Amino acid sequence: MRVSIASDHAGFEQKQALVSYLNEAGYEVIDRGPASDDRVDYPDFAQVVAQDIVAGDADRGVLVCGTGIGMAIAANKIDGIRAANVVTPNFAALAREHNDANIVTVSGRFTDLETNEAILDAFLTTEFGGGRHAGRVAKIEALERN
Ligand code: RB5
Repeated sequence: MRVSIASDHAGFEQKQALVSYLNEAGYEVIDRGPASDDRVDYPDFAQVVAQDIVAGDADRGVLVCGTGIGMAIAANKIDGIRAANVVTPNFAALAREHNDANIVTVSGRFTDLETNEAILDAFLTTEFGGGRHAGRVAKIEALERN
């Protein structure tokens, strides 16, 4: 599975650790930066990861900022993106199972690394449930066309 990942300055330290974690777990990781913790604007990085998903260059995305909130708001502006801001592994699993989320956004400041690793495990291994959830996701997609 190909995973595109990026952060802003507030998420940089955890992004670096999560890149290593995903590489060691055998994922094909596309690190979209930044390359340092110099101050940057999170929408720029959300856009790049979102475009990797929409273009089919990555299967899932991971975005890390201070809270994960700004990254989710920005990524969800891109048609085809369902980004979920998650603080627990069970919410990560539900974001996949119920919402078919294709990007998870996490907090580099308020969630510890071990929890974020467990969030990524859940996010990257849980399949979409389909069934009754599929029609709801189709309605989300229809909102993009309005
Ligand atoms: C940066 O200070 C901070 O605003 C950003 O990382 C993020 O938390 C925004 O949602």
